[in-house]
Amino acid sequence: MPDPTPEPAPNRDPDPVAVSPTDAEQVEAAVAEALSAVAAAGDLDELTAAARAHGGDRSPLSLANREIGALPGPAKAEAGRRMGQARRDVAEAVAERRAVLEAERDAAVLVTEAQDLTQPTSRRPRGARHPLGLLVEEVEDFFTGLGWTVLEGPEVEAEWFNFDALNFGPDHPARQMQDTFFVDPPEDGLVLRTHTSPVQARALLDHGAPLYVAVPGRVFRTDELDATHTPVFTQVEGLAVDEHLTMANLRGVLDAMAVAVLGEGTTTRLRPAFFPFTEPSAEMDVRCPVCAGTGEVAPGAARGAGAGAPSAAEEDASTRTEDPAGEGVPCRTCGSTGWIEWGGCGMVNPHVLRAAGVDPERYSGFAFGMGIERTLMFRNGVEDMRDMVEGDVRFSRQFGTEV
Ligand code: DAH
Repeated sequence: MPDPTPEPAPNRDPDPVAVSPTDAEQVEAAVAEALSAVAAAGDLDELTAAARAHGGDRSPLSLANREIGALPGPAKAEAGRRMGQARRDVAEAVAERRAVLEAERDAAVLVTEAQDLTQPTSRRPRGARHPLGLLVEEVEDFFTGLGWTVLEGPEVEAEWFNFDALNFGPDHPARQMQDTFFVDPPEDGLVLRTHTSPVQARALLDHGAPLYVAVPGRVFRTDELDATHTPVFTQVEGLAVDEHLTMANLRGVLDAMAVAVLGEGTTTRLRPAFFPFTEPSAEMDVRCPVCAGTGEVAPGAARGAGAGAPSAAEEDASTRTEDPAGEGVPCRTCGSTGWIEWGGCGMVNPHVLRAAGVDPERYSGFAFGMGIERTLMFRNGVEDMRDMVEGDVRFSRQFGTEV
């Protein structure tokens, strides 16, 4: 806002009420008044106000200073010295007081903003992601990296998708009550899916060929919960359908997945098997990451890598449990075979392609499925499946608190 009072010009006509630069007593009194105002300033704002009142452009001392120009020669020099000294005294007092008040303010900030680091925190302890979820994400990341799509399907599934579309005959033993949870009423034909394979047919019906999908999900079987079984568990299904796909493509994907999940140097092997929805079918094994395929571990070596530890496959094979002196004990992780069953796979049965509206003369495909709980068990040395379903955060925390 513009100041309505005009700037005072050099005064040619000395004002009798102002401090006169020729009057030593008046100047001293003005200085004394200024010093006491400065000394009385209790904080920096008050000091700024006092400095303006007694040293600013409109202060009596500044106004007196302007009178000097109007004085005759010798009086002018004397008044000049007097006013210079007076104004320096005030300016010095302001500077000294400012230093004191600034130091006081800084000291006060240290007190008012102090943190008591010994106070108990009000934060709740952080939880931890469940290792099964983390492992599923690792697998998803791998397939996303290949350019595949991650899909999900329903947990309550039509019997047709769970069995018929996958070429299970009406008398197939897997349909029997001892394996499958049927949803009431039975005539609705609904089950809790026993595997993630029904999403194969769903995905093909929805999207057609060519198709590359990975399907993680929960599946259900009428097993009792014990150290090696749980009625609810997790699978990841893979399905690729395109022209000219062969078992060699399947093999390449499985090997790359094994390396991604279990570490560099992991190898797989396929053994002939049977599944109604693949032909030919195979069981996929991975070289045991605990004994590195030797079937033996050093005496006293713990089973597996220990929960939360980096997977054994990530460690250098030479530091593992090989025992050149032949004093090793049988590896419990793989039952001394050097290999662990990891899942089923094969070339998609033409019946399945046809049921899902895909022409098997033009397209072929491969599929595979494996258990995530099992993978966590042999990869991280979890010995009891019940640890994975109890939801105790102390179990999860061993795998880190990644969010
Ligand atoms: N669905 C099978 C199971 O739960 C696993 C499986 C085997 C999936 C072979 C596949 C496959 O896709 O091709 O035991």
